[in-house]
Amino acid sequence: MAQPQQRPAQGVVRFYNFLSEDTSFLGEVLSGLALPRKALPPKYFYDARGCDLFEQICELPEYYPTRTELAIMREHAAAMAGFLGAGCQLIEFGSGSSRKTRILIEQLQPPLYVPVDIAGEALQAAATGLAQQFPWLNINGVCADYTKALTLPVFVGVPIRRKAVYFPGSTIGNFTPEEAIAFLQLARRMVGAGGALLIGVDLKKEKSVLDAAYDDAAGVTAEFNLNLLARINRELGGDFQLRRFCHRAFYDEDKGRIEMHLESLASQFVHVGGERFDFRQGETILTEISCKYGVDEFRAVAQRAGFAPGETWTDPARLFSVHGMIAV
Ligand code: AVI
Repeated sequence: MAQPQQRPAQGVVRFYNFLSEDTSFLGEVLSGLALPRKALPPKYFYDARGCDLFEQICELPEYYPTRTELAIMREHAAAMAGFLGAGCQLIEFGSGSSRKTRILIEQLQPPLYVPVDIAGEALQAAATGLAQQFPWLNINGVCADYTKALTLPVFVGVPIRRKAVYFPGSTIGNFTPEEAIAFLQLARRMVGAGGALLIGVDLKKEKSVLDAAYDDAAGVTAEFNLNLLARINRELGGDFQLRRFCHRAFYDEDKGRIEMHLESLASQFVHVGGERFDFRQGETILTEISCKYGVDEFRAVAQRAGFAPGETWTDPARLFSVHGMIAV
């Protein structure tokens, strides 16, 4: 366990909403559907229904990443806390339900925790739960799109020795490798030289295992994918008929990534925001990629963003990895 500095009896919990300032759901949907190869950003999966479905995905027998990463965290949290060091401000991107974070916070005892998430309700619920479990913890919850440059609110009066970005869940895989480098460069700027990165990364493995993880027998991932169209209907007045689209997900071995699509089952047209979009039968909307890496392959990506590889923790079957790195 990292030796905590003086700990307050009662922490302070604050929330900041930066979302309304910088996101345009309608704009991104209209431009994505106008592309020659239609695509939508996966960050819009996570409305209240999408968050709930994602929680269900994490419990599926086929979806190994969550339980595997949790097991790695349980086994190695003390070593990770030692790597990050005492007096560390912990900034978490995509904090979601914060299950893995609890394990880390218990060991690290950070003076300040800054969860950043686009899903405001989930962020508040998770931060409130953490404040109950760790009453001494100072929390600056930030509702924001962390894929864009972000200036975090400061917390005056709490001495910080180092800033660390925690990015679990292999959400880095939802970027292309080029986007991942650009994103990690933002994280590098946020933590400054000597700052740290602790990041969960899913590893390359057999296609059959990966195909099943993203196309489960119970159809939860299909519902998660289709909920994006339901959300466009609800929030943007779209008229997608969900039964005229189906979920397609597969691992592309050449590209080293899962691709998740919504396939049009008929020739049809759809309206969103007063604009018409035509679909051929069999045409798809790319809704998500999930890149898988080898350990060295990911280290090379992080190095290009200015992080020196430190330690890597994996499970015995080498399904998943967690990397600790220092900003140079
Ligand atoms: C959030 N992200 C890391 C998940 C993944 O595995 O790429 C999202 C997901 N999509 C379908 N299943 C899970």
